[in-house]
Amino acid sequence: MLIAHLTDPHIGLTSLGPAVDIDPVDGLRRALAHVRRFDPAPEVLLLSGDLVEAGREQDYRTLAQVLAQELPPHGAGGPRVLAVPGNHDRPVLARRILAELMPQAAGAPPDQVCVHAEHGGLHFIGLDTVQPGQAHGALGGAQLAWLQDTLLRCAGQPVLIFMHHPPLTSGVSAMDACGLLRGRAELAALIVAHGGVQLIAAGHLHRPILGALGGVPVVVAPSTSHQLELDLRPGAPLACRLEPPMIGLYRWTPEDGMSCHFSHVTGFDGPFAI
Ligand SMILES: [Fe+2]
Repeated sequence: MLIAHLTDPHIGLTSLGPAVDIDPVDGLRRALAHVRRFDPAPEVLLLSGDLVEAGREQDYRTLAQVLAQELPPHGAGGPRVLAVPGNHDRPVLARRILAELMPQAAGAPPDQVCVHAEHGGLHFIGLDTVQPGQAHGALGGAQLAWLQDTLLRCAGQPVLIFMHHPPLTSGVSAMDACGLLRGRAELAALIVAHGGVQLIAAGHLHRPILGALGGVPVVVAPSTSHQLELDLRPGAPLACRLEPPMIGLYRWTPEDGMSCHFSHVTGFDGPFAI
């Protein structure tokens, strides 16, 4: 099974400053067109937050429209699309408009957009790390209790966890300051206790990054819109760079486990036979 991972489309953002106009809708359309080109077709498509720039209803409606226009319906060759919110989102509003992408998980805290869906023998568990009005993320007691219950119900079965704020320290200090500031150790303990989590997929950092938590790989996908400058100097100011967008493409089978690919969205020459 192939899983496409797109993140941080930031629909509604129009510029990165006075001199740099951007078009996140076009970025998302290109990324989805890229997804459509893969054979075999991805069966699941994950969106790990910052779906829109400023939590505006009209931007969620635009996102829904773009997905409907660019992807075949699920069940007619299109992937099952699952989403969690990021710090630029308004989770409850997002769920109201994108209900199909964010189904209410059984037993989840009602004010948090947690997701649980099984597809192809893999359980997809989406976490809501949003702290209203804050850029940083956290996992609180209620959601961790729900996650513990959910992982117990998935005992002995493979799981993929996806979330906006990644449970890692990147070294991009301005982003680490607004990273997952609470709940990382508790998440690690639950992952170790389950023993079958295959991958943690996240966004927020607008760069391709790998890490690990509790012995499980953590993968951060770049944005479909704009990337952050790779500047690892302590205290470096945050800056953006219009590097080519990428998608994550993860291959999972029960026999082979997980492998993670990144694929640039913009076109390159090739393939060339060698
Ligand atoms: Fe973002």
